[in-house]
Amino acid sequence: MSTVNFRTIIEPFRIKSIESVKFTTRDERAVALAAAHYNVFRLHAEDVLIDLLTDSGTGAMSAAQWGALMQGDESYAGSRSFYRFEQVVRDLTGFAHVIPTHQGRAAERILFHTILHPGHIVPNNNHFDTTRANIEVEDAEAIDLVVPEGRQPSVLHPFKGNVDIAALEALLERDGDRVPLVMVTVTNNPGGGQPVSLANLRAVRTLCDRYRKTFFLDACRFAENAWFIKQREDGYGRLTPREIAREMFGLADGCTLSAKKDGLANIGGFLAMNSDEWAAECRNLLILTEGFPTYGGLAGYDLEAIARGLEEVVEEPYLRYRIRSTEYLADKIFAAGVPIIRPAGGHAVYIDARSLLPHIPPLAYPGIALTNALYVEAGVRGVEIGTVMFGLHPDGTETEAPMDLVRLAIPRRVYTQSHIDYVAEAVIAVAQMADGLRGYRIAEAPKVLRHFTAAFEAL
Ligand code: F0G
Repeated sequence: MSTVNFRTIIEPFRIKSIESVKFTTRDERAVALAAAHYNVFRLHAEDVLIDLLTDSGTGAMSAAQWGALMQGDESYAGSRSFYRFEQVVRDLTGFAHVIPTHQGRAAERILFHTILHPGHIVPNNNHFDTTRANIEVEDAEAIDLVVPEGRQPSVLHPFKGNVDIAALEALLERDGDRVPLVMVTVTNNPGGGQPVSLANLRAVRTLCDRYRKTFFLDACRFAENAWFIKQREDGYGRLTPREIAREMFGLADGCTLSAKKDGLANIGGFLAMNSDEWAAECRNLLILTEGFPTYGGLAGYDLEAIARGLEEVVEEPYLRYRIRSTEYLADKIFAAGVPIIRPAGGHAVYIDARSLLPHIPPLAYPGIALTNALYVEAGVRGVEIGTVMFGLHPDGTETEAPMDLVRLAIPRRVYTQSHIDYVAEAVIAVAQMADGLRGYRIAEAPKVLRHFTAAFEAL
């Protein structure tokens, strides 16, 4: 008897505990958005039906993770939970020093404050907003060197997160003495959750060796990146995601990682590296601002949850479901004519608001117009990744960002297929109203990371 090969990819879990969502009317949402000054970051989350603001810290933990919480050792120094966490991170990454932090940006701040001086340059494929801000606050420069395909939403390419190797080489040749380290973000979040190939990481390593530079990964979504390599890069189909991840980390000298993504945890992160000297300095700063090096701003139970999460996230059934469910949403809305970054990212679908709303110029924030319409019409919360997030420069000038996107980030293991069907229906309905949408202006905003708190006014 031959076995039937079923094609439906199902959620590789069943649900043990649920959380109700609150239904609101369109009028109620319009009032809530006005009260939030037209900035969805300022909404009460309760007033959101399906929350795709971020995949960061919003995932569902497994029963094994909840169980692990009870194993947390809350000793101030030398906690058992730290040693378990350290072992899991070391086995996964191979890095000698593991420094826990309360989230990814704390790892960034500690690393950059330790090693950067004014005038330094840090290249990356694309810096995430907090990474960029933590570099700029040291009066250093954050430079994005993603391949040209990575800046064109509709161009298909298997590794749109790759670094432009020629551009990196030119930078190192010209300004190498100003570059203390090279970073690569996997997957490339601001560029559409797009993966970086092992061949590209290897080419970055070769350049770093030639110019004697340190190479760090921003590894928040390392497991999703490993899955894309397994699917798309010749020669890796037979390796496990964990083996591929090991190879990615093996090319670098260290990493920053927000455990709120592929750590499958609600809080946490770490900084890991091979340099004894940098690690000693980073630990001193950690003690000053985060906590003792065996907890780094986390509870012992957080360390347990992350350790277990890092083991679960590389399981093949999980990654197959994860990447397919994002692609499922992308396929549905693309088939209905909505312009998106293609191929689909790992953790999110990115709508190309600039091309959907050509009548709204970048400086009238088409991404905000679309985000706000999705909330008012359907109770779905996405986030602008565009001119509001990246258009303001340290010298106070404002220019359009390379792209104006609306990201629909999918929390891990939280929403079912019918939730996603609803989101697709909502996006398609709002896209049909595109002509009637209007832009916004900023009434008030801080100078750094303005998108979180800016107040907008409709034009
Ligand atoms: N690097 C990348 C690539 C990220 O996506 C994030 C967070 C961070 C660093 C910072 O980590 O939030 O733990 O301090 N991204 C979230 C997002 C916030 O919505 O994309 P954190």
